[in-house]
Amino acid sequence: MDVLDAIHARRTVGTFSDRPVGRDVVARLIDAAARAPNHHETRPWHFSVLAGEARREMADAVAASLSDAPGAARAAKQKLLRAPVVVVVAQRRGSDDPTIDLEDYAACCCATQNLLLAAQAEGLDAKWSTGKLATYPAAKAHLGLDPEDRIVAYVYLGQRSAKGPAPREEAEAAVEWRGFDD
Ligand SMILES: Cc1cc2nc3c(=O)[nH]c(=O)nc-3n(C[C@H](O)[C@H](O)[C@H](O)COP(=O)(O)O)c2cc1C
Repeated sequence: MDVLDAIHARRTVGTFSDRPVGRDVVARLIDAAARAPNHHETRPWHFSVLAGEARREMADAVAASLSDAPGAARAAKQKLLRAPVVVVVAQRRGSDDPTIDLEDYAACCCATQNLLLAAQAEGLDAKWSTGKLATYPAAKAHLGLDPEDRIVAYVYLGQRSAKGPAPREEAEAAVEWRGFDD
């Protein structure tokens, strides 16, 4: 699929069927993600791929850490189990330099978008999500991340279980054109 076709067709899909997603296809998505532009080639990204029982183990670990907030625990479980595969994209925080730290975050966002577009090209649906789940220490600990690492995205992957949003008719962009003759 042409990259512009993937960009035009991609929409966030949040409800998925149980149809499994193979390891090979996820490996191709991660290969695409890790080709993102990255100043100084610090390769700040880390990908945790959770399928099957691994999703439940993560959901249980996070829920256990939220025993005093049953609503939040339930919400975390529901999210982590909503798709057959969850890819957690994290930024490893290796630099004290705030500029590099910001660039590394940007690179992880580029990697996540590469992953979404590759998923589109592979005929998969996806959702990028952050929210509180991205901040829970238990989530980072369960994934073997350091407390200061940043969870940039939970990418939920699978096939939509219901009719999803249509491709956008047009994009909205604030653009000021200067210096063109036409
Ligand atoms: C950094 C980031 C964080 C996001 N976090 C969430 C989230 O926590 N929950 C959610 O429902 N969508 C989340 N989204 C998805 C956006 O809501 C979605 O992309 C937006 O509504 C535009 O829809 P589209 O992706 O179909 O174009 C996130 C997107 C980005 C880029």
